[in-house]
Amino acid sequence: MPDMTATKLPMTQAEYQERVQSPAYIALCQRVQQDPRRFQYHIQPPTGWLNDPNGLCQKDGVYHIYHQYVPFYPERCNVVWGHVTTTDFIHYDYHEPALFPDTAWDANGPYSGSALLRDGTIYLYYTGNVRYVHPECDYDYIHSGREQNTILTTSPDGFQFSTKHLLMKNVDYPADLTLHVRDPQVFSENGRYCMIQGARDQDNRGCALLFESADGWDWKYKLRFQATPPFGYMWECPNYVKVDGKAFLIACPQGIPVEATALHFNSNQCGWFSLDYDFVGEAYTLGAFQPLDYGFDFYAPQAFRDATGRCILLGWMATPDADYEGETTLNCGWTHALTIPRQLLVNEQGRLCQKPLDELKEMRQAGQTMAFVGTFETETPACFEVELQMEQPQADFTLSLRESATLQYANGVLSLDMTPCGAGRTVHAVPVPAVRHLDVWSDSSSLEIFVNDGEWVFTTRVFDSMQNLRIALRSDHAQGTIAHYMLMV
Ligand code: FRU
Repeated sequence: MPDMTATKLPMTQAEYQERVQSPAYIALCQRVQQDPRRFQYHIQPPTGWLNDPNGLCQKDGVYHIYHQYVPFYPERCNVVWGHVTTTDFIHYDYHEPALFPDTAWDANGPYSGSALLRDGTIYLYYTGNVRYVHPECDYDYIHSGREQNTILTTSPDGFQFSTKHLLMKNVDYPADLTLHVRDPQVFSENGRYCMIQGARDQDNRGCALLFESADGWDWKYKLRFQATPPFGYMWECPNYVKVDGKAFLIACPQGIPVEATALHFNSNQCGWFSLDYDFVGEAYTLGAFQPLDYGFDFYAPQAFRDATGRCILLGWMATPDADYEGETTLNCGWTHALTIPRQLLVNEQGRLCQKPLDELKEMRQAGQTMAFVGTFETETPACFEVELQMEQPQADFTLSLRESATLQYANGVLSLDMTPCGAGRTVHAVPVPAVRHLDVWSDSSSLEIFVNDGEWVFTTRVFDSMQNLRIALRSDHAQGTIAHYMLMV
């Protein structure tokens, strides 16, 4: 096999700096800023494309939110780690990208990875993606033509980074895997460091590999978490989380037959398994797969624990390879965003739930709280929160949101209809035994709907006129209280 590692690296920091100073790029930034669909309180790319949250951590009171970022998209060859910081999850500072494709190990992108805080140093573990191009080789990029390297870089402050260290390459992973092994997450359990990575084996079964290390540098493969029967051909972005003493494995299985159950809306899924494992022996039990989100735009989430002990999750507010328009705003020079930050909690049924982070309430302005019987209607700006407490949790209702998005509850099924305003998004329907509580967060072009304290969540982009918007509840039997707030950053 000839050595096809890229000789010309796609983009160094100096090349990026030169390019963002060009008049063409400055004009692009202005065009992006003029788009009314730009978000008020979500993390979004200054230009180009954004995907997975990466390296989430809090250091010295500052939250670092790195993410997959392609500043010059639709040129695809220059994935970097974008870098955003915040102290309150309302005001965000955008910085120069943190990691560039500037070594032979990550020449086609520093792909997703996570942060581990150790003795005041941030350890960033990520995947270096390399794609070979050779006129005589017909690569499929699954079994040939690709490297997925595990790389470590450290940082004292989240802004300066050490030299990149190559920790593992494909030959270091188990031999029965394809070349798809990526998205390391590192944590400690039982006094050892553990790393999980998403993978696809030669029989096209998705799994999460577990490696162990005493020092965070030398890694040894231990076992793999796999569903029985196998579920999807590849698991992307696995995340191990322990919430209220209960362990879960979050993963994004790809290649799920959409007709398998009514809840598998897309072949790229994102959900959780309960995990029973002691991180010592070989035996583990994975519970049944449960979607994390039932909307149209949610994938590749990452969770981390902050200094207060909260487990905070952000996701990519998009779904890869969806059958509806994903890049509606690209005509204005940008596409995609991250979700609002959510705290992970476990409810009485042992289910993993998501609650909008308390800090977000600081955006509430000019609220009105009212009791309602049957109907409620009010005008609203595009940035709002509406919270409904239902006293008749089994009562059918229709809740119109904004111009033409509709959340309907009928005969124990909750459905979100985005047909008139979803750029191809249609209806997602989920059996929900009772609706006690709804908390809806709307930004210029998104809706995030939390049902029953986040046991069910619907995340979706919305593309309406943003003018003369209304919230309207209609029901024969529902009653309760409704709180409506304008949100201001
Ligand atoms: C998930 C993903 C990851 C990969 C990254 C590349 O959206 O495909 O598996 O590391 O995006 O941008």
